[in-house]
Order: sequence, then C-alpha cells, then structure tokens
Amino acid sequence: MAEHKKLANGFEYLQVCNERACARIALQGAHLFHYARTGEVPLLWLSEASFFEKGKAIRGGIPICWPWFGRHDTDPALPQHGFARNFLWQLVELDESDAGATGLTFSLKHSEASLQLWPYRFELLLHIMVGKTLTLMLTTKNCDKQSFEISEALHSYFAVSTIDSAYIQGLAGRRYYDALAGEDRVQQGNVFITEEVDRIYEEVQYPLLLHDSDRSVRVDGQGSSSAVVWNPWIDKCREMTDMVYDAYQTMLCIETANARQDQRSLRPGEKHSLTVIIS
Ligand code: BG6
Repeated sequence: MAEHKKLANGFEYLQVCNERACARIALQGAHLFHYARTGEVPLLWLSEASFFEKGKAIRGGIPICWPWFGRHDTDPALPQHGFARNFLWQLVELDESDAGATGLTFSLKHSEASLQLWPYRFELLLHIMVGKTLTLMLTTKNCDKQSFEISEALHSYFAVSTIDSAYIQGLAGRRYYDALAGEDRVQQGNVFITEEVDRIYEEVQYPLLLHDSDRSVRVDGQGSSSAVVWNPWIDKCREMTDMVYDAYQTMLCIETANARQDQRSLRPGEKHSLTVIIS
C-alpha cells in the first residue's frame, strides 16, 4: 500500500509497504530515507537529528548527488553534490501489482531554477523497486542540443551495529583518491573504519559486501565503476548540525557513483543509467 504523507511544515513523502518491505520516499530529492524488510531492523541509516525541511537534504537514506558529485569543479558557491537532492520531483508511476515488490518512478526535468545552476536541458528518472531487495536506477537523458558531463552518486547511508565491527569486502587492491589527504592510494585488504574516511575508489568491481557483527549487506552497482566510502568520524560528526555527536558509530556510506575519472559524457538524446541493488 502506498500512502501520501505530509508533515506539519508541509514536507511531503510517500510511505510504501508490501508483504516484503516498507520504504519512505520524500518528494524533495526523490530521497528514499527509510527501507526495512518485513520483521527486520532498517537497512539504511537515518540521522535522528536530520532536517525534514524545504531546501535541506535529509541526512541518511539515499540522497541523489547530481549533476555533480562533491564540490562543483569551478564554482565553490554552487551547492555541494548538485541540486537534484533539493528539488521537488514528481511521482510519475506507481506499480503495486506485485504483493511483494512495489515499483515507483520519479521524474525531474530542467526548469528555470535548474538552468540557473546548470545550463543544460535534461530529464532524470529514478526508478525504485521496494521488495526483498531494494533497487534504485537513476537514468539521465540529455535533452539539450549540446553534450554535457555529469558526475553523480546514489549516496547510500548504511546502518551498522557498531563501526568497530564493520568492514567492506571487495575493494582490496583498488586505487582510491583519499579526499582528506588529496592523494591517490591503493587499498590493502578489506576496508576498516578507525578514523575519518572520505575516499573515491576506482575501477570498482561489484558486488561490495558490508559486514558487521549482526549481518552482511550486498551492494551491487551497474553503470558505475567508482564507489565512495565516507564516515565523518568524531570531530566532523560533532560539527554537523544534523547529526548527533556519536552518530558516526552506527553509519557508513558506500556510494555507487560516477565520480572523478568515471564521470560520464552524454551527447544530445543520449541516456545513462546508474543503478544500485541492495540485498
Ligand atoms: C560524501 C563526500 O559523499 O558526502 C564527503 O565524499 C561529504 O566529502 C559527504 O562530506 C556529506 O556531504 P553533505 O553535503 O551531504 O554534507
């Protein structure tokens, strides 16, 4: 069943529940901020101090970073991670024909406001499948008369039992850009988090596995050969107004991306899809 909900401040979201799972998706950003399989604890992390307000990204779930990942290449005044996560999307399709899997499609098209931030005509479609697995497929279509380049990420915040017990398997031997040191490095073994981490891994081969003391989560990516791993750790977490002081202990971001050398160029009429499948 899909229900349209509205907070007292007008912030709107959809709640979708079927036999296998429940999810909540805000219309702002087509931002999925809750997903749990029936009878299980949530798979995605959501900050208890998150904003649910117009123009502010939700801290948790899967924000969409688009049409640029991270800081804008040339203009630092432009919003970090692009604008898609802060714009209002439209629900264009809801498919509840399967009792165990609900399909939703959201759309965002260029507008006067988007053209002021990024001078291209586009159509974005986000297809979400909520079931025993969670799938998000973000398709970019170039509707302009000129080519454009995008970098992007499905910025997934995973809930972990404790950060000390969590590690990522599948990245050993991969080169990564350490955004904190500003250097390229090579991953030795599995990824353990014992300090602030902000890295873009290259030539990623999916799946990646996230293990903690309670469970293992499989992350499959398509249309992506880069993945971002982020945990703000103690100091940054305390600086962030939408995270409580020890929140870094129960979250870890693994972001299926097209970032750095993996950014994509689309000619007029061309499409590209970036997909994450979480199981
Ligand atoms: C990560 C970036 O993807 O997102 C980090 O690699 C950034 O550098 C983090 O701090 C959170 O970004 P934001 O804009 O949601 O606070």
